Amino acid sequence: MKIAVLVSGNGSNLQALIDAQLAQHCSGTIVGVISNKADAFALQRAKQANIETQVIEHKVYPTREVFDDAMHQQLLEWEVELVVLAGFMRILSEKFVRAWEGKMINIHPSLLPLYKGMHTHQRVLNTGDVFHGCTVHYVTAELDAGPALLQGVLQVHQHDNVETLAKRVHELEHVIYPQVVEWICNQTIQHQAGQAFYKGQPLLKPLQLCQM
Ligand code: GRF
Repeated sequence: MKIAVLVSGNGSNLQALIDAQLAQHCSGTIVGVISNKADAFALQRAKQANIETQVIEHKVYPTREVFDDAMHQQLLEWEVELVVLAGFMRILSEKFVRAWEGKMINIHPSLLPLYKGMHTHQRVLNTGDVFHGCTVHYVTAELDAGPALLQGVLQVHQHDNVETLAKRVHELEHVIYPQVVEWICNQTIQHQAGQAFYKGQPLLKPLQLCQM
C-alpha cells in the first residue's frame, strides 16, 4: 500500500512510521511526505530516510480549496492509497476530505470524543480526569469526529503536568499509529460506507491499548 504522510512540524509520528517500515513491521511504503511548512523538522526525517518530500505552503495559495487541490494532485501523482496526517496543522476542505474518505487517518492527543481541538493535556488536567491518551481515527469533514480505530490509554498521575502528559501521550502515539497503519495495510481494518471494520466486524467503538 502506498502511503503519504502530511506533516507541519516535528514529525515524531512520521519517525515512528519510518522506523516501523525499516524494522519491516509495516507492509506499506511511505512514498512521499508533504509539509505545508518549509522549515518543518519532519522534512529532515523524511530526507534522512530517502523519502520524497514536497513543500506545499498554504500561504502561497489564494484559498484553502486551491491549496488542497495542489496536495490532491501530488497524492494522485504518487498513486497514494493511504493518507496519514501526522501533526498536520491545517483544516482540510470538505471536497478534499470527501475525495480521501476511508483512505485518510489522523492521530489526536485525547480520548475522542473527549477534547476535540487544541490544548488537550491542559483541558484534561483542568477537568481532573483519571484517564487520558490518544486516538487514531478516519478523517471526516467534521473536525476530530470520524470513526475511531484505536486508542492509547494512560492513567493521569498526581504529579503529571502538561509537559509530562505530552511526553507520555507522544510515546503512546508512536506505538498505536504504526499499529493502525499496518492493520490498514494488511486489511485487518477496512472502511466501507462511512463505517470502520476490524477483522470483518463493524468497529462500534475504538480498540484500546492501555498503559498504566
Ligand atoms: C501529535 O501530538 C498528534 O497527536 C497531533 O500532532 C502532534 C504531532 O506530533 N495531531 P509530531 O509532529 O508527530 O511529533
